[in-house]
Amino acid sequence: MPPIQLLSPRLANQIAAGEVVERPASVVKELVENALDAGADRVDVEIEQGGVKLIRVRDDGSGIEEQDLPLALSRHATSKIVSLDDLEAVASLGFRGEALASISSVSRLTLTSRTAAQEAASRVEVEGRDMDARISPAAHPVGTTVEVRDLFFNTPARRKFLRTEKTEFNHVEECVRRQALSRFDAGFTLRHNQRVVQSLRPAESPLDKERRIGALCGQQFIDNAVLIDAEATGLRLWGWVALPTFSRSQADLQYFFVNGRVIRDRLVAHAVRQAYRDVLYNNRHPAFVLYLEVDPATVDVNVHPTKHEVRFRDGRLVHDFIFRTLHKALADVRPDDHLRGAVAQSFGRENAQGVPGAAGHSDPSAPAWSGQPAGFQATPSQGQGMPQGGGQGYSYSAQPQGRSQFQPQPQQEWHASDQMAFYNSLNAGGGVEAGTPAAPAGGAEAMPTPPMDGDEEPPLGYAIAQLHGIYILAQGRAGMIVVDMHAAHERITYERMKRALAEQDLKSQPLLVPLSMAVSQKEAALTETHGDDLRQLGLQIERIGPETLAVRQVPALLRGADSEQLVRDVLADLIEHGQSDRVEAVTHELLGTMACHGSVRANRQLTIPEMNSLLRDMEATERSGQCNHGRPTWTLVTLSELDKLFLRGR
Ligand SMILES: Nc1ncnc2c1ncn2[C@@H]1O[C@H](COP(=O)(O)OP(=O)(O)OP(=O)(O)O)[C@@H](O)[C@H]1O
Ligand SMILES: [Mg+2]
Repeated sequence: MPPIQLLSPRLANQIAAGEVVERPASVVKELVENALDAGADRVDVEIEQGGVKLIRVRDDGSGIEEQDLPLALSRHATSKIVSLDDLEAVASLGFRGEALASISSVSRLTLTSRTAAQEAASRVEVEGRDMDARISPAAHPVGTTVEVRDLFFNTPARRKFLRTEKTEFNHVEECVRRQALSRFDAGFTLRHNQRVVQSLRPAESPLDKERRIGALCGQQFIDNAVLIDAEATGLRLWGWVALPTFSRSQADLQYFFVNGRVIRDRLVAHAVRQAYRDVLYNNRHPAFVLYLEVDPATVDVNVHPTKHEVRFRDGRLVHDFIFRTLHKALADVRPDDHLRGAVAQSFGRENAQGVPGAAGHSDPSAPAWSGQPAGFQATPSQGQGMPQGGGQGYSYSAQPQGRSQFQPQPQQEWHASDQMAFYNSLNAGGGVEAGTPAAPAGGAEAMPTPPMDGDEEPPLGYAIAQLHGIYILAQGRAGMIVVDMHAAHERITYERMKRALAEQDLKSQPLLVPLSMAVSQKEAALTETHGDDLRQLGLQIERIGPETLAVRQVPALLRGADSEQLVRDVLADLIEHGQSDRVEAVTHELLGTMACHGSVRANRQLTIPEMNSLLRDMEATERSGQCNHGRPTWTLVTLSELDKLFLRGR
């Protein structure tokens, strides 16, 4: 073997760059983070040829003292921490003191800077194997500009992995989007080949913030999103979550920030998915921009070279908080929330401001809702006002439209008699009968047909007619409302059954023959440590050998299900998440099927009072904007939209 030698500084830095500097977008990420750490109010990013030729980031932050300039470009030099304690409570984006050293080892980098205390600016660049710093005088306002030219000019292997100019720029754009979402108080511009691609002023007011979200994530998103803001046990979660009906075929509109740092995290992803579980159509992905604020000391940011991951000290607490907050926000969405937004929208967005009392809303000056109910697009864009059939002009084309799609998923072999007994017991207390929409206590005849213009008009208005045995046509102050009566009734029944179930205990029932299961030692041990948790889920499991379990009792309602699979899934959840919602998930799935069978079928004639009582039930029911399969249950055509269709008032 050759003798051991120290690597030259440049080579050491190039090796470090291998982990962090993958492509132009990674350089942009590091430079913009530095600008934000320096307290910049304004960050300008200039790109040429996808970033391969030039990346220039200019800020108006604190700047760097002249004598510190050589250190800025050397490795293991940072102004952001000095001790391990600092690292454990770090609030800045940077802390390794590595980014500039790495980048300057694989490109031609110059940094020009001036602090407020300095008369003139200075420039620093490094050269040679030893990366010696050379300082020269320069002209620059207070702040810093870093120029990175010819990325990977000296590392041909890396250079080969670069994609087309367009692809690389797309990555840069996505990176700037994330940064701009993370700091509303800073202005950003992004230029590519001298063309301005993005220009964002600092966003202070709630409306400005929504505008920025609209500019970065699309107006459709913000029009279909609900603002949330919740705080508990030292955690705060705020941001925008899209209505379930604004779901995506890909998980491409999901931004999650922890203390201003964008991260990907399985625990977070799981909590969000769980919150949407009940309301999202199969295989669709929710869209959200969310900010979690926690005590920096409770989260470890030093777990990944590009800092894209973090580790929470109390992961379970964070998981539960995210899940509960989102679950509640989605449950709280009511027809009148949509309508307020829709009406405000027809009179101009500013009117959406100051709507009090909306779901999960702590800032009364912020718009609770902006935009239309999901699923409705105001004007037929192609058709010159010609009425279009078959759902054109609706934004759900990605979702199955035919009624045959409403069939429930095939289930395991449930015991039909158990189902019916349970269902009847719920109905006895819950007041809903299979096949009939619930009537109010006073009976259908007691429903008056109230005046249309009173202050008390309910959000979904009053029924006028039934269309094709499928839809209810209603008139409200905002305009015309169309309800898919089967979908709506299904959700109402389902929510009612869930509530009834939650009020009862999950009754446990012994199996005639205990089920014997082979499992791993780890799983077997878990049944002993988590005996109470399992019993709460209605499961009684005994460890009868090092790797053998006997399942003695299961939840009564799930007796006909595949108990072995259920137990395996529950144990897997316990291992991964320290908890399991499997029993609830499977139970809810079963209730969903029952609700679907028990709900008003198409082609059943309803009387006007029956239709009105269904509308009132919808207004009072959680998640009533979507059926159990995540499809919308109703839509609104506002008066002004009708006017537009008929070219009235022009
Ligand atoms: N735009 C800037 N404005 C002011 N100071 C800066 C700027 N960019 C870099 N610096 C200074 O240079 C130092 C080194 O920056 P560098 O990005 O290499 O490391 P870091 O930000 O400290 O840590 P990390 O490697 O995690 O990014 C910083 O600690 C900071 O003091
Ligand atoms: Mg940095």
